Amino acid sequence: MPAPVIRVQGLGKSYQTVAGEFPALRGVDLSVDAGEYLAIMGPSGSGKSTFMNLLGCLDQPSQGDYFLAGENVAHLPKDALATLRSRTLGFVFQGFNLLPRMSLQDNVALPLVYAGIDKETRRAKARQLLARVGLGNYADSLPNRISGGQQQRVAIARALVNTPSLILADEPTGNLDSHTSEEIMGLFDELNREGITIVLVTHEPDIAEHARRQVRFLDGCIVSDQLTGGRP
Ligand SMILES: Nc1ncnc2c1ncn2[C@@H]1O[C@H](COP(=O)(O)OP(=O)(O)O)[C@@H](O)[C@H]1O
Ligand SMILES: [Mg+2]
Repeated sequence: MPAPVIRVQGLGKSYQTVAGEFPALRGVDLSVDAGEYLAIMGPSGSGKSTFMNLLGCLDQPSQGDYFLAGENVAHLPKDALATLRSRTLGFVFQGFNLLPRMSLQDNVALPLVYAGIDKETRRAKARQLLARVGLGNYADSLPNRISGGQQQRVAIARALVNTPSLILADEPTGNLDSHTSEEIMGLFDELNREGITIVLVTHEPDIAEHARRQVRFLDGCIVSDQLTGGRP
């Protein structure tokens, strides 16, 4: 049996606030196998983003262990986390997070700059991925020239540029209308069919239905973990 892509044990995260320590995550256990398609749900403030940021190596836990593709990364220093992040996973945010003064092509290619890939290869890869998400003709445009749905496609292309085996998405359709949301979810469905593991946060049941497993958070804990049908 290969190691799960994600395995967390007793994962906790507390924030320092003026009122003292606030435990946003309280001992979470979860295992996600390669090829899974998982939706994380739960009310606002239940710890979903805190959890995703830990999974995405954007932050470090206060307690517990995180095995990413078998390696315990919970206690790695920030620069090691950044390297790991740029090699193994793609992250998609609710607000797209594109750099406004950079062309779409350069936005998509940016993770390859950090990975030390040469310019010609970066250009070719970024163009190929923009074409893949249906934006091949917009490579030289700036982000403010395209719609929100198109910006999210660019963000997905950027998340794919390092050929990750895991995509994490925190409310990727939270800023999009329902039609555009379905288009974006179609793209995630396709990536999952190609074997990429997907973990996404949503509070919309229609969006969560695309996944085959739904995990629900409440007050920093997992309160349910169910296999669901998913879309054919
Ligand atoms: N940087 C922070 N400092 C202090 N408290 C935070 C911080 N980030 C999140 N929180 C608190 O932690 C809890 C969980 O937040 P979050 O993970 O963003 O939840 P969700 O994504 O489910 O809405 C909330 O009560 C939130 O106010
Ligand atoms: Mg959140």
